[in-house]
Amino acid sequence: MQFGSDNQTGASQKVLDYIARSNDEHTHGYGDDQWTQDARDKINDVFETDASVYFVATGTAANSLALASLVKPWETILCHHQAHIFIDESTAPEFFSGGARQIPVTQKSGKVHASHIENYFSQAGSDTPHNVIPKALSIAQANESGLVYSPNELKALSEVAHQHDLKLHVDGARFANAVAASRVTPAELSWKAGVDVLCLGATKCGCLAAEAVIFFDQALAKDFEHRRKRSGHLLSKGRLFAAQFLGWLDDDHWLELARHANQHALELAQQLGQLDKVRLAWPAQANEVLAIMPTAMVKTLQDASAEFYPWYEQALPPREQLGQDETLIRLVTSFKSNMDEVRRFIDIANNS
Ligand SMILES: Cc1ncc(COP(=O)(O)O)c(C=O)c1O
Repeated sequence: MQFGSDNQTGASQKVLDYIARSNDEHTHGYGDDQWTQDARDKINDVFETDASVYFVATGTAANSLALASLVKPWETILCHHQAHIFIDESTAPEFFSGGARQIPVTQKSGKVHASHIENYFSQAGSDTPHNVIPKALSIAQANESGLVYSPNELKALSEVAHQHDLKLHVDGARFANAVAASRVTPAELSWKAGVDVLCLGATKCGCLAAEAVIFFDQALAKDFEHRRKRSGHLLSKGRLFAAQFLGWLDDDHWLELARHANQHALELAQQLGQLDKVRLAWPAQANEVLAIMPTAMVKTLQDASAEFYPWYEQALPPREQLGQDETLIRLVTSFKSNMDEVRRFIDIANNS
C-alpha cells in the first residue's frame, strides 16, 4: 500500500529503454547533442509552440531557477500558503534569486484565485524602495490541495497577474496529472491561458530525474543558461535528461502514466468517501487524496504497513476543523499503483 509519494516509485520501462538506447552513442556533452535537440523539439510539438526549453534534475532547481529569471533580489513572488516553493524547498528560491521573498496570498483556500491577487494589491504598500514589489505569481498544477486549475481559472489568474505586471509561473511537478485529468491540451493548460513559465516535472510520473523549464515568453530565458550552469544543473551528459523526456513523451506515454495514477486516486477517494468515519478534505481531481480520518484508523493503517503521510493542518478547507481524535492525511498514487492495494487499504480502514 504505497501512497507516500509519487516519487517513491522508479521509472517506467519505456523511459529506461530510451536511457539505455542513448547510452550506446557518443555525443557531445552539456546538451549540445541531437538527443537534447530532439527532446526540446518534442516538447515544443506537444505544447504546439516555440518555447525556450532547459532541463534540470530537480523540481526545486526548476522552480527556483525559473523564479530567479522573473524577479530581482528585492522583488517578491506571490503564492499559495501551502506552495511547495514556500514550505518545501528550504530557501532555494531565495538562494537562487538572490533573496526574493515569497508572499502567500491565501489562507484557507484550496486554490489561488484572481480575487486573492486583487485583495493583495488593494492593501499593498506603494512602489518605493521601502516596499516589497511583487513581480511574479506562482501556482502549482496540479496543486497543493490535489486540485486542478481549469483554463478559465488560469486565464483569470494570468489576466490579473499581467495587469499588475507579474509573470505567471507554474510549478508543474504534477502537470502530467493535471493534463490527464482535464479534457484540454497541454497548450490550453499553459501558454494559451497566459502562463509565462512552466516547470514541467517528469520525475514523479515515470522518469528518474528530469524536469523541463519551459519559457513560453522566450525573452525571460535570457540568462537562464548562466543560472543553470552556476547552480550545477548543466549536466555533462545532457542526453540523460533528453532520453528520459523522449521516452516519457513518446506516443502520449506520459499521459497514459498520469491517467493510471489519477484513476487510482479517484477510486481511493470514492471508496474512502463512503466510509462513515472518513471525509475528504478536497475532491480528488488528480493523483492526490487529502482525507480526514480518526487517528486510530491512521495508526491501524500504518501498523499494516500502509505508506502515507499525515498532512499539514493548514491544508484544510475553510470551515473544516480536525476533531480531537482526527488526523488529516495525504495519499498519493503513481503510475505503479494497483487496485489490490487500494482495496486492501479500504478494507483495513473499514474494519478498524
Ligand atoms: C508541488 C511540488 N513541486 C515541486 C516538487 C519537486 O521537488 P524536488 O526538488 O524534490 O524534485 C515537488 C516534490 O515533492 C512537489 O510536490
